Amino acid sequence: MNMDELRAKWDARYAGADANASALDVLTDYAHLLPHAGHALDLACGLGGNALFLAGCGLKVDAWDISPVGIARLREAAVGLDLVAEVRDVTAEPLPVSHYDVICVGNFLDRSLCPAIAHALCPGGLLYYQTWTRERVDDSGPGDGPFRLGSNELLSLFDGLVVRAYREEGAIGDRSRGFRNRAQLVAERPG
Ligand SMILES: C[S@@+](CC[C@H](N)C(=O)[O-])C[C@H]1O[C@@H](n2cnc3c(N)ncnc32)[C@H](O)[C@@H]1O
Repeated sequence: MNMDELRAKWDARYAGADANASALDVLTDYAHLLPHAGHALDLACGLGGNALFLAGCGLKVDAWDISPVGIARLREAAVGLDLVAEVRDVTAEPLPVSHYDVICVGNFLDRSLCPAIAHALCPGGLLYYQTWTRERVDDSGPGDGPFRLGSNELLSLFDGLVVRAYREEGAIGDRSRGFRNRAQLVAERPG
């Protein structure tokens, strides 16, 4: 799928969505680790549930996505908040270096971008990342393919950062319980 087709796919999905997205579990579960102030980025934000959550926590937020429909809806939802939402292809425009106190990435995976994401954090900055894994207990999320993480892959993609929280439960034990189908990481750029 080329970029125009990808944009059209997400535009159509967001035009039909009847509610704004909520924040990822990794953000709500580990919100107590967030700084009280600072500059955050929601990368590939979609409808911006994570961006809205971060702004509600007192952070100044940038939110980027290729979908003009998603960005327009986020702008409407963000009136009065310190949140700047922009249409931006994150693979085409380089990320600023040592710039963000918090970066959040949800349900988006471009492995080639991971070193730049780590470098876009300020020293002491925090990465919140959550996305789908190949090991899973049901069919939720994208089909098998490059958008799913291998076992512990998220740790290796950000091995220069200090892990503060990590969860990936695979398919073992009682499959009806727990945090399944996804991995979540909170990691800090060393100061
Ligand atoms: C599954 S959605 C995730 C949205 C949001 N992060 C969330 O967790 O709900 C994937 C998003 O990635 C965006 N996207 C895909 N490729 C992109 C790119 N190169 N630059 C910016 N956004 C991109 C899509 O438009 C879509 O909104």
